Amino acid sequence: MAINTDSVLVSHEEIVQMLDRVSAQINHDYEGKSLVVIGILTGAFIFTADLVRRLEVPVIVDFMQVSSYQGEFSTGLLKIKKDLSYDIKDKDVLIVEDIVDTGRTLALLKEQLYKREPKSLKICTAFDKPSRRVTDLKPDYNGITIPDEFIVGYGLDLDGMYRDFADVRIVRKE
Ligand code: IMP
Ligand code: MG
Repeated sequence: MAINTDSVLVSHEEIVQMLDRVSAQINHDYEGKSLVVIGILTGAFIFTADLVRRLEVPVIVDFMQVSSYQGEFSTGLLKIKKDLSYDIKDKDVLIVEDIVDTGRTLALLKEQLYKREPKSLKICTAFDKPSRRVTDLKPDYNGITIPDEFIVGYGLDLDGMYRDFADVRIVRKE
């Protein structure tokens, strides 16, 4: 089966506009504060890098690598492959994700991070696929809402490939 990535869903220009809009909202909401930004590896590495360079508040950048899997409980389980390097107690924390799909990963991550008693905890995602949601998770900052398609580029991968595309493309299997 061949993989076709010719179909561009979001152009690089649209991504830049999205970055300007989302960073302006964050700069407005956190004015006078400082932020701990948690990029979720690996998919959010490019979005995190682009976003933090547009922030005007003092920022600590950290990363986590997590995955969710279905356990015997319906809520699922969270596996932390790489944990934070900083303590987030009493900090304003912003989780930066590449895409929210079912919402399972972020719902579980939020639950875990709340136990560490941050002052606030919000979610910013580059892309949102609300049609596939199985939780009530709603990102506080959403870049671009996309249809129910599997996308790659701008950090998002298929089996580790295509993260380097500057635009976002739909994967078609032929
Ligand atoms: P969720 O737990 O179902 O919300 O899925 C979260 C993870 O699945 C995301 O952080 C992505 O890594 C991956 N994912 C979901 N949809 C896509 C897609 O269209 N392209 C690439 N990765 C995706
Ligand atoms: Mg991810």
